[in-house]
Amino acid sequence: MAATSVNAEALKESPIPEVVQPQASKQTIDPYNVQGEVGADGVVKAIDYKKLVEEFGTKLIDEELLARFERVTGKKPHRFLRRGIVFSHREFEVILDRYEKGEPFFLYTGRGPSSDAIHIGHTVPFTFTKWLQDVFDVPLVIMLTDDEKYLFSEKRTIEEVMGYCNSNVKDIIAVGFDPAKTFIFSDFEFMGGAFYKNCVRISKHITLNQARAIFGFNESSNIGRIHFGAIQGASSFANSFPFIFGDDEKKTCAIPALIPCAIDQDPYFRMTRDVASRIKFAKPSMIHAKFLDALQGPGTKMSASIDESAIFMKDTPSQIKNKINKYAFSGGKVSQEEHRAQGGRTDVDVSFQYLRFFLEDDDELERIRQEYESGKMLTGELKAICIKELQQYVGEFQELRHKVDDETVKLFMSERPLKWVGNPHAPRVVPQVVPAGDAAANGGEEGAGDGKMTKNQLKKLEKQKQIEAKKAQKAKEKEGQTAAPAAEA
Ligand code: TRP
Repeated sequence: MAATSVNAEALKESPIPEVVQPQASKQTIDPYNVQGEVGADGVVKAIDYKKLVEEFGTKLIDEELLARFERVTGKKPHRFLRRGIVFSHREFEVILDRYEKGEPFFLYTGRGPSSDAIHIGHTVPFTFTKWLQDVFDVPLVIMLTDDEKYLFSEKRTIEEVMGYCNSNVKDIIAVGFDPAKTFIFSDFEFMGGAFYKNCVRISKHITLNQARAIFGFNESSNIGRIHFGAIQGASSFANSFPFIFGDDEKKTCAIPALIPCAIDQDPYFRMTRDVASRIKFAKPSMIHAKFLDALQGPGTKMSASIDESAIFMKDTPSQIKNKINKYAFSGGKVSQEEHRAQGGRTDVDVSFQYLRFFLEDDDELERIRQEYESGKMLTGELKAICIKELQQYVGEFQELRHKVDDETVKLFMSERPLKWVGNPHAPRVVPQVVPAGDAAANGGEEGAGDGKMTKNQLKKLEKQKQIEAKKAQKAKEKEGQTAAPAAEA
């Protein structure tokens, strides 16, 4: 996306105080900041995704990969893929290979419950994940990082984030996930057992220096934040979920995850992939989405706490209409004559951007693009189409959302076996056993504390046993001499 100066106007008129006076700075995208470059003039530029791909070292999704996807799955790529909204990946081809061969993998995504107010931007990765679940027919785990939202906020209490969790789970379910194939969990509730073992396996393999380099922490960062990446990473490993994949860690640690997420989450999983190869677990693959601009236009971001910045999933049809008409940044010309003569800019027009995300029909979208750019279509008409589309998208969501009760939440959040088929055209392959000595149960690296003992440790243990035996022998002899009072075992 090109940098635009058009935003200057949008920002001046913006009712959003937070984005009015940004300081000049470089583009920063990480799990805790999403901010386009800010020029010396204080104008926020659109996020440069190409630069991000280069910096992060991910790969762009190209035509060839999409063609392969279609060949392997027999499904037309989702509109997000066709339109470059889901645009980047790490080893997505590994997942396609496995699907082709009937080898197991699973989907993993998540949300940080920071507010009750879900907006259309939040639904993008979930809508895409639901589609992937339908296409691949595999288990999906959804993590709610209530712990993260507590650790990374000065003000929020644990009770507060857990409350958001409950309503967010309902919103997530309303995207349409299949209860037979989906497990949703909150970190606070799920922590322990196999999952916690993986958290610790990961944290043991990350030094403070690495965490600082990856996430930008410093001496004043609380230590919970420094550790958190291990938690988010741990769900990438199938052996965190024995009730879904079974108890045989030698097999389950070889089942990889495919993680659909917004690109800002990449640092967590870059780190996880690095650790995975060192402990000989399957490396997760990722597929990354772009962000949806706020109503104020490119370079602005929807905020859950600023009503005028976004279309919320709770909005009524008339609220949607008013917001688009009043706030949606327009790529049209000032006067009708000028617009008819020169046409509008679809690359900065927010209504058009939203149609790119939510209008399914490619031909219709192309017709709108041509008509708007040629000046045949006016801003009012474009906005009317966008309003209709969003009213429908939000309306369908609300219909499902009303049906989600506490029972449904309980079902999705209970630890239980899931049912899935995978590729119906490939023979189902059981997980490949990792060569002895590699799997978790056998210890990753020598003496890495992942289970297996080193020779030294075995020797020590043997010695310890001998000492204990001698002690016991002595105690027995003593007992024979004096009737000792019953000692504590
Ligand atoms: N950290 C994410 C957030 O704040 C939540 C999350 C956890 C997530 N695991 C994930 C997002 C996996 C995408 C994929 O929203």
